[in-house]
Amino acid sequence: MSNSQANIGVIGMAVMGSNLARNLASREGNTVAIYNRSAEKTRAVAAEFPDAGFVATETIEDFAASLQKPRTAIIMVQAGRATDAVINQLVEAFEPGDIIVDGGNALFTDTIRREKAVRETGINFVGAGISGGEEGALLGPSIMPGGSAEAWETLGPILTSIAAVVDGRACVTHVGTDGAGHFVKMIHNGIEYADMQLIAEAYDLIRRGTGKSPAEIAEIFAEWNKGELESYLIEITAEVLRQTDAATGKPLVDVIVDQAGAKGTGAWTVQTALDLGIPVSGIAEAVFARSLSSKPAQRAAASALPGPDGDFAVADVDAFVEDVRLALYASKIIAYSQGFDAIVAGAEEYNWDIKKGDIAAIWRGGCIIRAQFLNRITDAYAENPGLVALVTAPYFTDAVAGAQSAWRRVVIAAAQAGIPSPAFSSSLAYYDGLRADRLPAALVQGQRDFFGAHTYKRVDREGTFHTLWSGDR
Ligand code: ATR
Repeated sequence: MSNSQANIGVIGMAVMGSNLARNLASREGNTVAIYNRSAEKTRAVAAEFPDAGFVATETIEDFAASLQKPRTAIIMVQAGRATDAVINQLVEAFEPGDIIVDGGNALFTDTIRREKAVRETGINFVGAGISGGEEGALLGPSIMPGGSAEAWETLGPILTSIAAVVDGRACVTHVGTDGAGHFVKMIHNGIEYADMQLIAEAYDLIRRGTGKSPAEIAEIFAEWNKGELESYLIEITAEVLRQTDAATGKPLVDVIVDQAGAKGTGAWTVQTALDLGIPVSGIAEAVFARSLSSKPAQRAAASALPGPDGDFAVADVDAFVEDVRLALYASKIIAYSQGFDAIVAGAEEYNWDIKKGDIAAIWRGGCIIRAQFLNRITDAYAENPGLVALVTAPYFTDAVAGAQSAWRRVVIAAAQAGIPSPAFSSSLAYYDGLRADRLPAALVQGQRDFFGAHTYKRVDREGTFHTLWSGDR
């Protein structure tokens, strides 16, 4: 092996890593070094894709020696201990000024910790969220890098060359320092959970309310995909609903066990939002809906619990379907508004200068929540960078104003019919809470002062007050 011939390296030759390495190799001017803990995988990838011209290496030392300086390596291994192990090896083999990128799905607080530790060696560490799954990695993902501005100078052009492109703009931006990239990737995943749950609720309401078949509902989603709901998730929902099971001839969706799995990034989003004090109720309900679905024993035990009397049948099918579409749109606006609230709060807490409009822009391609809708978010922050809640931007206020009557009708119908719609209904409750003149939080403050002397503030005077309640003992 001749030395120092590669300008970038990838560690971890599982699907994401090998696809990202192939993407890099396909771009003009790149020579890519590859390495995997078990060398047979490295050899297999090099043999399977000879055109990529990979520099296959079998030890970390060879890998480091094969890279031009300053060296740049992207780690694509399992999040957690594997990532720490590889970072430790690279720190030994690399020199000050080199760049280590973690492209895995790390928890952002791990990235903050790693960045701090690696920085002390003079090596740059960049946590980069990479979205879009296997296909995105190969053809163009949405990339959310954190790390230092200095590292971004070297890394920026490389990442820009492999990212998805929408309207001539690459889906990558320097999100902020240390863990900012992985933080924003986490919020992206949380929003994705909410988006998927809202679509699932829309499907359930239409199916149970109108008796339409999955294939018929697929046509409705395909139609919706031509309007303001246009998105990858709506598009694939139509595909999933259209699918029939080869073995039984039934709609595939009826053959799939109704217990949703999760890899944990939705839960991370909610845990983080709880710490930041940001209500991300749409995302939380989506995470909880998956948890509830995956409790077969409880669901079986509860299956005899009473539901509403009588059957649920919609009188005007077309009007109901349109109501559901509007409820979905309004709830989606709330979910994104809440997600961006979490980004704003995270940026404040961790001192990141995050450009919200740029985040929406780089989510337009390569990732699962890609949608035209994100342009409206970019526009809203361009118009008013200090926007305190996305839903209050004129475009979104108008959209929700046009949808809210339908939204209420759908939530009422769902409650009366006994069809669970946690994301639709909690988003509406959040909306009504946000716009309320007065909230019963005043009463909660009174209760807190009563039992715990926690004090309260008054509407008409400055200061802090405590009442000598007649119940005081
Ligand atoms: P995917 O989900 O894409 O299949 P993953 O499970 O996230 O992949 O990560 C698997 C990768 O992490 C593999 O490249 C694996 O190396 P091996 O092929 O040698 O198993 C790598 N990996 C896991 N643990 C590791 C460790 N402790 N040190 C180095 N690499 C490790």
